[in-house]
Amino acid sequence: MGKIAIEVRGLHKRYGDKIVLSGIDLAVPAGTVFALLGRNGAGKTTLIHILSTLASADAGEVRIAGRDLSSDANGVRGAISLTGQFAAVDAMLTGRENLHMLCRLSGLSPSASRQRTAELLDAFDLKDAAGKRVGSYSGGMRRRLDLALSLVRPKPVLFLDEPTTGLDAMSRRALWTMIRKLREQGMTIFLTTQYLEEADELADQIAVLADGRLIASGSASELKARFGEAVIEISNDDDVIIRTLPTDGTIQDVNRALQEALRIVPANAKVAIRQPSMEDVFLALTGREEEVAVG
Ligand SMILES: Nc1ncnc2c1ncn2[C@@H]1O[C@H](COP(=O)(O)OP(=O)(O)O)[C@@H](O)[C@H]1O
Ligand SMILES: [Mg+2]
Repeated sequence: MGKIAIEVRGLHKRYGDKIVLSGIDLAVPAGTVFALLGRNGAGKTTLIHILSTLASADAGEVRIAGRDLSSDANGVRGAISLTGQFAAVDAMLTGRENLHMLCRLSGLSPSASRQRTAELLDAFDLKDAAGKRVGSYSGGMRRRLDLALSLVRPKPVLFLDEPTTGLDAMSRRALWTMIRKLREQGMTIFLTTQYLEEADELADQIAVLADGRLIASGSASELKARFGEAVIEISNDDDVIIRTLPTDGTIQDVNRALQEALRIVPANAKVAIRQPSMEDVFLALTGREEEVAVG
């Protein structure tokens, strides 16, 4: 494992009586993608805000790109980019004008700004839309512009708070491709998501945040292996899955699970065995099986 780009120890945060983060420890190696999974209200944004200096923690230590957050917040700010920070994107201006303006504001000369703007429009597939007002952009285009804006001056660490929430499947995949490219360029990426598939697709390391704690962390395959070896899926005549049952993958345990199933589903129901998905892992961890297991 190489250098650690983000290191967090014993982080605590409460808002009034509400404990939001209750002892967070994590380490993200440089050049990797870390995905923080959690339901709405789990505290993902709070953690990103603390790591990116927008909010303060009650206790704990944070080092980002070798800078200590409490003694060198400016150093941290200089080492990170955060999307969503340009809520002030001017909808009346075009994508190109917005990018050019931010390049100029960040100290680039007019010609360097033109060049950087062209590079970013190209990299984020916004060339065709460059001359259109941002007000007319789709959700996916806006998200790509937002990402481009945060990379006007590339920094070693990038924070993405729910980068694809609300996007359609195609825009989401387009964004994933761009995030992978940034990782290939050596950037360390810390993202939050509610989508298990997104964490599975993008992350070297996944952590699940629930009740203020990281209740599990590891690579997607580590998490899957830890929460069962095989899942039995039982479907009805219409091929609708009516039950999912975790097993350890042995004949004995599969048999046990099927005997159990026979008591609750019709004997002519269909059975398939598959590898566990991130969805299974998440449900096992957060104990919300009832949301998928119908029947
Ligand atoms: N500035 C704030 N003041 C009071 N409570 C807050 C504040 N920000 C977040 N919270 C609360 O902290 C909890 C976690 O919120 P948040 O970090 O936004 O979760 P997530 O991003 O995972 O949806 C929620 O219960 C939210 O209401
Ligand atoms: Mg949030």
